[in-house]
Amino acid sequence: MVEPQRLLVVCLGNICRSPMAEGALRARLEQAGLRQVEVDSAGTGDWHVGLPPDSRAIATARRHGVDIAGLRARQLSKRDFDEFDWLLCADHANLRDVQSLAPRASRGRSVLFMEWAGLAGPVPDPYTGNESHFEQVWAQVDAAAQAAVARLLGRLTHNPGQATGDT
Ligand code: 4NP
Repeated sequence: MVEPQRLLVVCLGNICRSPMAEGALRARLEQAGLRQVEVDSAGTGDWHVGLPPDSRAIATARRHGVDIAGLRARQLSKRDFDEFDWLLCADHANLRDVQSLAPRASRGRSVLFMEWAGLAGPVPDPYTGNESHFEQVWAQVDAAAQAAVARLLGRLTHNPGQATGDT
């Protein structure tokens, strides 16, 4: 079986990329029946704490059948490094910021979200962009969510009974 694991998607503001990625992951995991994988998101910055996702992010997710309006931004905390298995960063700057906050020994491993999913590239910040930038972000994070689910399920085929939770 797929071992329980906890994923935290991290971007700068937690109002555009990481809530979209959280929504895409939740939707794809639910479709696949993978209830043992938990997902959350956070930002390295604190400017938008307590606020819902950017209205353009909400609208984009909604166009793809996913409701992220109920999410609220929060800032990454030191505790997250022990509570999550993976800190999935949207871009290289996020990854550097996350790594600079990481305790010397912690459960969570910090990586680029797209690379963790087996795909290429950072997820560029759409905040100062337009609707098409948000659509591009959705295409990226949803592809990563689908790839992650396929990989999690693939472990069932390739390593029956031997899931280690390190995917
Ligand atoms: P996010 O986008 O990191 O994808 O949530 C941003 C949101 C807000 C800001 C920057 C990026 N900001 O500078 O306020």
